[in-house]
Amino acid sequence: MGRAGATLLAAEGARVIIADISQEKGQRVCQSIVEAGNEATFIQVDVCRRESVQAVVERALAVYGRIDVLYHNAVDVPFVNEQDRRLTELPEETWDRMIDLVLTGTFRCCKYVGQQMIRQKSGSIILTATVDALIGCAGLDAYTAAKGGVVSLTRSFAAGAAKDGVRVNAICPGFVTTEPQLDWFRKPGAASMMEMLHLLPVATPEQIAPFVVYLASDESAAVTGGIFPIDSGYMAFKANVDVMGLVSDGKTKSE
Ligand SMILES: NC(=O)c1ccc[n+]([C@@H]2O[C@H](COP(=O)([O-])OP(=O)(O)OC[C@H]3O[C@@H](n4cnc5c(N)ncnc54)[C@H](O)[C@@H]3O)[C@@H](O)[C@H]2O)c1
Repeated sequence: MGRAGATLLAAEGARVIIADISQEKGQRVCQSIVEAGNEATFIQVDVCRRESVQAVVERALAVYGRIDVLYHNAVDVPFVNEQDRRLTELPEETWDRMIDLVLTGTFRCCKYVGQQMIRQKSGSIILTATVDALIGCAGLDAYTAAKGGVVSLTRSFAAGAAKDGVRVNAICPGFVTTEPQLDWFRKPGAASMMEMLHLLPVATPEQIAPFVVYLASDESAAVTGGIFPIDSGYMAFKANVDVMGLVSDGKTKSE
């Protein structure tokens, strides 16, 4: 989703910094934006390390002198998909890492980018939660709790930052066919289960990106503190489904 968002933002004229823990992935995205004739720079970051986040902000300011938009996405998807559990079977180290990566990682990026936006009296912060933080998902207790924190942080920071010209919103995707999710999506039965859980075909990252551009732009000048399910209708109805296959035995992940 970060790739698709950055690509569309750059195509709309934004000068983009791709910040990712993976040099290989980040540089690939950066290169494709530059090859399309738009502007992008890659900087490696680990959102779990405060100094690393601060260094990205410092480099962005050294090059551009301001930061207008933060689109925050970072999550280790295989870690979520493979290590999360119903909380009664969840190792505390997994809980701690999830909170650090998903919630505190979001806090760190908002804090250091937000300080600059408040100094410049303008900016748009776009966070990524999930619909599962709004309705729950069996077997994903640490992830949904951490993303629930992102939802609350969105509203609270929006309330605090509005007077300084900074808007904060969160997108809650349903299932999206991003690279790491495709491995799971290709498992027998997964695609048909996902189609059943959504009213519309499951979204591609490119279908999320236009909403990111909207929230980044002045077109959304009246929008802050918003929690937006961009989810192919996932939130519109409910089903009793153990999506991750983690609840029946709790300890071992089903193949
Ligand atoms: N794909 C879905 O179905 C789905 C659904 C709901 C919410 N989300 C959320 O959307 C966001 C994007 O997910 P995606 O599917 O595009 O995943 P993705 O793996 O394609 O992108 C996440 C990126 O974060 C990077 N990353 C991981 N750990 C990092 C760290 N410590 N510091 C910096 N970067 C790090 C990864 O290298 C990767 O490039 C995530 O926040 C995810 O929780 C995804």
